[in-house]
Amino acid sequence: MNQSQELVVTTSPDELRMAVRQARSEGQRIGCVPTMGALHEGHISLIRQAVDTCDFVVVWIFVNPTQFGEGEDLQTYPRPIEEDLKKCGAAGVRMVFMPPPEVIYPDGYSTWVEVAGLSEILEGASRPGHFRGVATIVLKLLNLIQPDVAFFGAKDYQQQTLIRRMVRDLNLPVEIAICPTVREEDGLAMSSRNAYLNPAERAAAIRLFEALQLADSRFREGAEDVAAVQEEMLGHLRGSDLIEPDYAVIADPDSLEQLTSPQPRMVALIAARVGSTRLIDNQLIELSPR
Ligand code: PAF
Repeated sequence: MNQSQELVVTTSPDELRMAVRQARSEGQRIGCVPTMGALHEGHISLIRQAVDTCDFVVVWIFVNPTQFGEGEDLQTYPRPIEEDLKKCGAAGVRMVFMPPPEVIYPDGYSTWVEVAGLSEILEGASRPGHFRGVATIVLKLLNLIQPDVAFFGAKDYQQQTLIRRMVRDLNLPVEIAICPTVREEDGLAMSSRNAYLNPAERAAAIRLFEALQLADSRFREGAEDVAAVQEEMLGHLRGSDLIEPDYAVIADPDSLEQLTSPQPRMVALIAARVGSTRLIDNQLIELSPR
């Protein structure tokens, strides 16, 4: 793998395309890591996986305005560009593409991607339009970069489910690699939004992970009442005055439909406001046959 080569940073789709075309003509495997920047250990683990398995890795950094709703944190979303570029260089990334918004959404932009069914529930119910923005930008970045493989984190469970569905439904010629959630020592899932938490909120935020662990333990112990497990998760979240749960559900890992009775593979999904910061987390629950 060509880790010793210099990092090129570009805002130009033409330069990006030329570099990727050149690499492909040399038989190199192209990997891409889509991000909104503010790179933390979770992103770095995606980048490492990409660098380990591909020859030419492009990191996409773009705070995509169309996936933010009104009153959300688009303006204040962290943008530590210099640090991000240093991290990419150190990790062996070959190109960082940071398109200006007007290149991605020129005047009169009017084409959108909707993944029906998966877009309106859970995160989509709380953040109307969010997944239309995500699906649209991911299709655009896959078209622009045309990678062999794109790397996404398991932490955004609904996002990765929706992206895999879109890739399947639209026959996109790309492999989607899902990398495990990276956690802080106490279990809190890494997220760029953790930076918004004050010390008391940071301490309370561990309850999201604990509630997921609780659900996992209950089903392993043989719980049959899904509604009761969900209530217990909500109760655990509400154990802190700083947490206001949005949802805590047990769902089918592919359709994301909520379950009424346990099955061998399930996913526990949580969204909660910790202070004014909205956090999400999830855990796959895989029960061995008894
Ligand atoms: O997961 C993210 O950071 C974003 O939703 C993504 C996939 C980069 C699209 O803007």
